[in-house]
Amino acid sequence: MMDSGLGGLSVARVLRQQLPNESLVFVGDEGHFPYGTKPQATIRRLVSQIGQFLLHQDVKMMIIACNTATAAALDRVSQELPIPVIGVIQPGAKAAVKTGAASIGVIATDSTTQDGAYVRDIHQLSPNVHVVAQATQPLVSIVEHGQTGTAKAQVTVNQQLSMFDNHPVQALILGCTHFPFLSKEIQRKMGDKVKLVDPALETVHEARQYLTAHDLLAAQKESYVHLYSTGDVHDLIAGGDKWLAGQYDDCLHIDL
Ligand code: SIN
Repeated sequence: MMDSGLGGLSVARVLRQQLPNESLVFVGDEGHFPYGTKPQATIRRLVSQIGQFLLHQDVKMMIIACNTATAAALDRVSQELPIPVIGVIQPGAKAAVKTGAASIGVIATDSTTQDGAYVRDIHQLSPNVHVVAQATQPLVSIVEHGQTGTAKAQVTVNQQLSMFDNHPVQALILGCTHFPFLSKEIQRKMGDKVKLVDPALETVHEARQYLTAHDLLAAQKESYVHLYSTGDVHDLIAGGDKWLAGQYDDCLHIDL
């Protein structure tokens, strides 16, 4: 599993809950964070390097636990690697359509929003749904800098989501894996009636389906969790302690 930083831990925690027998190698590309403001060609190169690193760790599947990286690099990395590669955007679109909402909001990074992948995927599944997409890049830094639950986090969420005051939606996709860690602030801003959609659940469901169909599920619980950061390991250690409740074996620096 990879992410541009520690947002992908929101997918990792679901994977650990739902598939506890599976081992996990997680790369947070903090040395190149953020992805959301980078050109897609750069993101493709970075994700491709991480894919090769994961392959050398002998993984049986790669999950791109980053919406920006999924939009930019899923097709390329799927072609490059001899293992299945799963992204988070199609599962997120599917989960949102399943809510039955007639109007769906998407909040994501600059890059994911410009790419338009969520709007395309939602309309492919349900052409008449009204989609409102909003780039909310500053929310990524709030999470990466450990500021969730602070007054600053709520003020930033309120500012970044103010567009929805005039464009109400019934469901809102958290289209960046950092955002589930701000779900309390986001729900407070959007109101209780808006259903927040975290793509992680459907992503892990798809991973499970693939592993089951190909007889690849780990048979017994001998699993390990290795975290790697291309940047300062202390950020990922803080994320692992908070979001994985310290349930990992080690956290090491790698140069990629
Ligand atoms: C970022 O690095 O800008 C966040 C990437 C993402 O999770 O979409």
